[in-house]
Amino acid sequence: MKRIVLFSLIVIIGSISLNSCRQSSKNKEMVKKENFGVFKGKDVFLFTLTNKNGNVVKLTSFGARITWIEVPDRSGRKENITFGYDTFEGMINGDPYFGSVVGRYANRIAKGKFTLDGTEYTLPVNDGDNTLHGGPEGWHSVVWDAEIPENADVPTVRFTYQSPDMEAGFPGNMNVEATYTWTDNNEIVIDYKCVTDKKTVLNITNHAYFNLHGAGNRDILDHEVTINADRFVPVDSGLIPTGELRPVAGTPFDFTSPRNVGERINEDYDQLVIGGGYDHTFVLDSDREYDARVFDPVSGRVLEVLSDQPGVQFYSGNFLDSSQKGHGGKPYIHRSGLCLETGHYPDSPNHPDFPSTTLNPGETFTSQTVYRFSVE
Ligand code: GAL
Repeated sequence: MKRIVLFSLIVIIGSISLNSCRQSSKNKEMVKKENFGVFKGKDVFLFTLTNKNGNVVKLTSFGARITWIEVPDRSGRKENITFGYDTFEGMINGDPYFGSVVGRYANRIAKGKFTLDGTEYTLPVNDGDNTLHGGPEGWHSVVWDAEIPENADVPTVRFTYQSPDMEAGFPGNMNVEATYTWTDNNEIVIDYKCVTDKKTVLNITNHAYFNLHGAGNRDILDHEVTINADRFVPVDSGLIPTGELRPVAGTPFDFTSPRNVGERINEDYDQLVIGGGYDHTFVLDSDREYDARVFDPVSGRVLEVLSDQPGVQFYSGNFLDSSQKGHGGKPYIHRSGLCLETGHYPDSPNHPDFPSTTLNPGETFTSQTVYRFSVE
């Protein structure tokens, strides 16, 4: 009897460890890791994640960036639909934000100044008088540590970075994590986690550009966009919020039902003129199935964006001017990519009535953004 019990125990333990071994090696099989370059003496890696459908996402530890998303159109033809570069050289000499994690403060802080508990902090400015996307040395431009978690059953890469106190002018040592999961439903799930040891501000996002025709092929003016927002955040000529939250009803900013990006983009409407197109945060409704949806009638590709954040920055690629040449040397022409950057409103540290972007020691900031791809 004893022998039978012992034998069964050995079989059970054996199969458990075999299973966990299979699982741990599974993520390693689904995620290929290669050297991509070296930056300031630190190795940079490229990760190729292949899901059950054979669809491929590529990430790099430089800026924790998404650099390739290959998904099928309605006839099954696969193409990369995000901006990026084939080589590390191209990446460091190219646009700093394509696919990057942006921090510590995505979008602008007016005059590079904010005050916390009576202390004024000054950041380097890099966009006229203002600080954009965490300043010139933001999280898009550092090498993150990367790990392929053993227990994941779909392709997953976890990037971590220790941002020192006063880095780029921001107070507090901050530990940040951005975990990317590429699910078998063709969703990129990004889980962010941040902790600080001093009161500070935080607005983290991902800056991927999308063109559902295929990146580098043509503009995105025919993409049909829906944004579940009744209000948006008007800006001044420096793209700093004026403080107003304006209803979208009756304006070219009403995307509560699907509208082509190009349909109203050149209208003589104050905010379109100031932004050179759409470059605004939309105030997300609390009860929503998704934040935003993009449909390309030509390829049939659909992108849905889901998040738990109070806003999404809809940017119609107005600063693109063909000087940025990405994968395959293709020029990214004016308005050939759009961004849907989930997060807080720009310049919130200077607008006490906006949702707070303050992070205190002892608190853990967590947030999730999903980019879901399908066809229709
Ligand atoms: C966007 C921002 C634009 C522009 C772009 C980077 O997030 O809204 O104004 O700065 O990043 O080129």
